[in-house]
Amino acid sequence: MAVQVFTAVTGAGWESELVGALDRDAHGVTVVRRCVDVAELLAAAATGTGQAALLSAELRRLDGDAVARLHAAGVAVVGLVEPGDDAAARRLRQLGVAQVLPADADPEVIAAALRDAVAGVPDPGRDVADPRAALPVTAEPELPAAGPGGRGRVVAVWGATGAPGRTTVAVGLADEAARLGVGTLLVDADVYGGVVAQVLGLLDESPGLAGAARLAGGGTLDAAALARLAWAVRPQLRVLTGLARADRWPELRPSAVATVLEEGRRLADLTVVDCAFGVEDDEELSFDTAAPRRNGATLAVLEEADTVLCVTGADPVALQRCVRALDQLREVLPDAEPVLVVNQLRRGPVPGDPEAEVSAALERFTGRRPRVLLPADRAATDAVLAAGRTLAEVAPGSPLRAGLRALAADLAGVPRPAAGRRGLRARRPG
Ligand SMILES: Nc1ncnc2c1ncn2[C@@H]1O[C@H](COP(=O)(O)OP(=O)(O)O)[C@@H](O)[C@H]1O
Ligand SMILES: [Mg+2]
Repeated sequence: MAVQVFTAVTGAGWESELVGALDRDAHGVTVVRRCVDVAELLAAAATGTGQAALLSAELRRLDGDAVARLHAAGVAVVGLVEPGDDAAARRLRQLGVAQVLPADADPEVIAAALRDAVAGVPDPGRDVADPRAALPVTAEPELPAAGPGGRGRVVAVWGATGAPGRTTVAVGLADEAARLGVGTLLVDADVYGGVVAQVLGLLDESPGLAGAARLAGGGTLDAAALARLAWAVRPQLRVLTGLARADRWPELRPSAVATVLEEGRRLADLTVVDCAFGVEDDEELSFDTAAPRRNGATLAVLEEADTVLCVTGADPVALQRCVRALDQLREVLPDAEPVLVVNQLRRGPVPGDPEAEVSAALERFTGRRPRVLLPADRAATDAVLAAGRTLAEVAPGSPLRAGLRALAADLAGVPRPAAGRRGLRARRPG
């Protein structure tokens, strides 16, 4: 059966001719609706009567959100640009349009791109937030090493609810990686309210991640713009701050967050993302599948990341929450291979030797052994919070810092050297 296509190429002189040629010849596509604007295209997509959209870069109000909504409705997208307009082609790709062609391409070529796009597009309801079949668990995945000079790596620091220490681990890893000479970007992507700026003592009025997501949604984010939006804490450490107010979470559209991380890979060798806890899909709660989902940004980060760290506390309640969170993660992202990081390990909440007991419990209930066990060290973390500085500065000799430094070296693919002390002086973004 012919692919049913919506077009939205208004304003271009070649529209009628192209639509006529596509329809007339036996190209395997049928134009079912010629839309005049983005609103009409989205409304048409929601009817489920088409499988692909052909749109032009000049379409007004076209943004990453609109493209994501087309994909969510099961509509594959092919973009057309004026011949030679590389900037427009780049912008369309950043908005999430995988196939971009010059408008003077042969109708047969355009039809083939539409058919290919349909063949490759995820089914409706197969975006990042949807449950897929579970895969078997494997124990102790190897940490992939960063390739020298290649694309930067993205590490998501995630974990269950109940403050297991995601922010402590994310900030510590980013700071230690930077001290090891690795160009690092720390991103606060906690959709329940970011605190990284506060923890690092940054006076934050910067647009941070929300500003970067806005540019990404408009197709104008590049590594240079990302660098301008981030604080340069040290030459090797940039920080993209999070939502100052938790109720602004709808500003973090999943597709835009994914684009920010993509540019992060160009800007830094290592991008460390402090994530919120939730991954459950709230789609069933909404009447409209295109409605924003709070956990969408977290899912986008986890899907984009090369390594997902799952941070858990070391007491029975935290372990139980961790087991449940990993179950949920497997439902929504069966291919994720989370690396377990036990934090706040101490004597008391579990009987016997805490390291052996916690490791055995996690292996029994999740099929994974922890990769790292970080000790509880309230004196060190209190000093961090009191000073707005990092462990390396306020507790350089602490075992907690040593554990984070070793993990940072492994994640960045560099050797583990001895400790060093350097000042943390922030420069404002801009
Ligand atoms: N290893 C640790 N030892 C002692 N306290 C810790 C440790 N890790 C985190 N904390 C403290 O626990 C609290 C929650 O940590 P945080 O990193 O903010 O958790 P999350 O980001 O998961 O909500 C903070 O007060 C932090 O200082
Ligand atoms: Mg946190």
